[in-house]
Amino acid sequence: MPNLLAQNIKKGLCKPQKMIPSSSFYDDIGSALFNQITTLPEYYLTACEMEILESHAQDISRQMGEAPIQLVELGPGDGSKGNILISQLLKDRKKVTYIPIDISEASLLSTAENLRSCFSDLMIQPIHADYINGLNQVKEGGGGRTVVLFLGSSIGNFSAEDGRHFLSELRSRLKPNAFLLCGFDLKKDKEILMNAYSDKAGLTRDFNMNLLTRINRELGGTFYHEKFNHVAVYNETQNQMESYLECTEDHHVDIAALDHVVSFKKGELIFTERSRKYSLSDIETLSIETGFHIQENYSDKKGYFVDSLFVNQE
Ligand code: TRP
Repeated sequence: MPNLLAQNIKKGLCKPQKMIPSSSFYDDIGSALFNQITTLPEYYLTACEMEILESHAQDISRQMGEAPIQLVELGPGDGSKGNILISQLLKDRKKVTYIPIDISEASLLSTAENLRSCFSDLMIQPIHADYINGLNQVKEGGGGRTVVLFLGSSIGNFSAEDGRHFLSELRSRLKPNAFLLCGFDLKKDKEILMNAYSDKAGLTRDFNMNLLTRINRELGGTFYHEKFNHVAVYNETQNQMESYLECTEDHHVDIAALDHVVSFKKGELIFTERSRKYSLSDIETLSIETGFHIQENYSDKKGYFVDSLFVNQE
């Protein structure tokens, strides 16, 4: 989707506080890097969520009922989380169609292929699109029940307002009683958060820097990686981790496809990502504001992370 990238980059880099929208991270290389981040010891989020899914899969499956299930997953990554739930649903003899939606085609197809080899009975209908366009292509099955998985901490990557808007849009596309299982990273010690977003091995740095590589390759940019640092900070007022690319010297960057030269000052920051952290009452407020009802909150033993089961209220 080069045009969308061009529009996003132009808009973002022309703002007084320069920014790059976080969807730009997930080209094929960025998606592969993020999958590696999820295996880092510092990035506790994925391990906690895997524990939650493993220990509560039976209960989640029970809540889904007996009707055939359309399991829609937004940004499935390598599919290992979906795998846990699919495995339980099939064990419970339910009819499942799995519909992963992702903007990285390579990641989407390799995940679909993996799951196909694990579950011969599973119907899989991958959709290569962004979340909303993908959801628009999902046809809600006759008697079946739609269950949307929005795992990881992707909801936290939206601003508070955009997150509310996104969940409302999502809900408006669902039938009454459809489910959403949504991941939330909980508020916790700052040190733990800082380590998760600036790991020792430097993978998070590579992931952030890949934005520049991508602009160079797809839009004819002239970014030098040496002129930028990866910076992670915890914003205590907003309760969010923030990632930036910090410019280390005054210079200009030419971006051919945009017909545009961007000036950078030493010390200037490009905002690349927020990751909001929630309390249980923040989650409850968000569910009410977007028309969902919380059926159940599932947490890991350490209490670091929650998968909240939202139901679309009639
Ligand atoms: N959705 C992930 C999160 O908020 C994305 C992410 C993890 C990320 N580490 C990052 C984004 C570092 C930018 C920089 O946890």
